[in-house]
Amino acid sequence: MKGQINLIHATGAAKRPGRDSRRFTTMASRAKIKARHFSTHIDLPPSAREQLIDMLNDHLADAFDLMSQTKQAHWNVKGKDFYSLHLLFDEAAGELAEFVDELAERAVSLGGYATGTARMAAANSALPEYPTDAVDCSDHVRALVERFGLFASRVRTAIDAAGEMGDQSTADLYTEISRAIDKRLWFLEAHVQREA
Ligand SMILES: [Fe+2]
Repeated sequence: MKGQINLIHATGAAKRPGRDSRRFTTMASRAKIKARHFSTHIDLPPSAREQLIDMLNDHLADAFDLMSQTKQAHWNVKGKDFYSLHLLFDEAAGELAEFVDELAERAVSLGGYATGTARMAAANSALPEYPTDAVDCSDHVRALVERFGLFASRVRTAIDAAGEMGDQSTADLYTEISRAIDKRLWFLEAHVQREA
């Protein structure tokens, strides 16, 4: 149905004979989410708002995914710097949770629909999955450096994109996130950095 969230249906082995074949998939990578839009008095052109909402939802997915991956590191890190990294990772995850909320609320403010469940985020995130073989401090720091670096890059690009679409408020949100993520990246990289 037009304008509805459309989680696609499981196929193959996931289907059970005799039951409705239209079942929601548990495989997030198969989820397709159709955009929904709502009327608003915000005076940005509809086409710009639609692009901004899509972009915000993309970064909502990234931020949600990165938050959960940072928690994964918080729980599983081992080694001589365990406690300081355990705390550092938790602080970063808490900050990402705030950005998840701000990105979602900006998408809704623009007349959009926030696609913010864990499954939606997993389906839409541009980040690679967290390595399950990471054990010691440097494994986790390097995995997070790679992912925070990718997210930082995507957010930086979004600052200009939002500005070019005439939405300085969204550009400002991205600028705030960009500055904070760059700082988090520094806190992580300082553990493994060498002189260039
Ligand atoms: Fe904790």
